Amino acid sequence: MHRDIERVLISQQQIARRVAELAALITADHTPPKQEGPIELTIVPVLTGAMIFCADLIRQIPMAMQIGMMTVSSYPGRSVSTQGAQVVAQQLADLRGRHVLLLDDILDSGQTIRLVTSVLRERGAASVRTCVLLRKDRPAARDVPVDYVGFDIPDVFVVGYGLDFDNYYRNLPDIVTLNGRVTEGRA
Ligand code: IMP
Ligand code: MG
Repeated sequence: MHRDIERVLISQQQIARRVAELAALITADHTPPKQEGPIELTIVPVLTGAMIFCADLIRQIPMAMQIGMMTVSSYPGRSVSTQGAQVVAQQLADLRGRHVLLLDDILDSGQTIRLVTSVLRERGAASVRTCVLLRKDRPAARDVPVDYVGFDIPDVFVVGYGLDFDNYYRNLPDIVTLNGRVTEGRA
């Protein structure tokens, strides 16, 4: 696995620092004034890619929260670019009146965020905010407004920290690019 790595784009230390900053921002934005009651917060990671990001982030948000989950398949296979996102499973409970924070690993074409946001609104969420760990530097990604972004990265294919190639490499602690021989050989 490690010999497939071309270069480390974002190290685990950089990720940890930024996740802590995002958690602090999100906590501040979701803390209501004292005279009001606590807000009903539901965190919704888009699986499978946002699983590790979600686990690290929510343990640094000291607020009452529920967790929902949505599994979205963004491409028919391998690492080819997105061909229409599809919800393949969801476990959301009752979202009516709840404030939802959607978490995704990466904003690429924006189809996943658009799709999932509309599903959450249809299910009656009082508000839907979005947080992506990574945003690719491409016009389509910039056209989709998101509330929190971990890192802006070049338009390259990355894996690690939850992101996959052919469902592998999610357990790499850093965010990395792969050798061409891997992506070309197996795609
Ligand atoms: P979008 O719907 O095109 O914005 O794509 C978002 C989804 O595509 C993400 O949740 C990822 O699962 C996948 N994706 C996009 N770019 C990459 C990448 O560079 N590495 C791994 N997965 C990616
Ligand atoms: Mg994904």
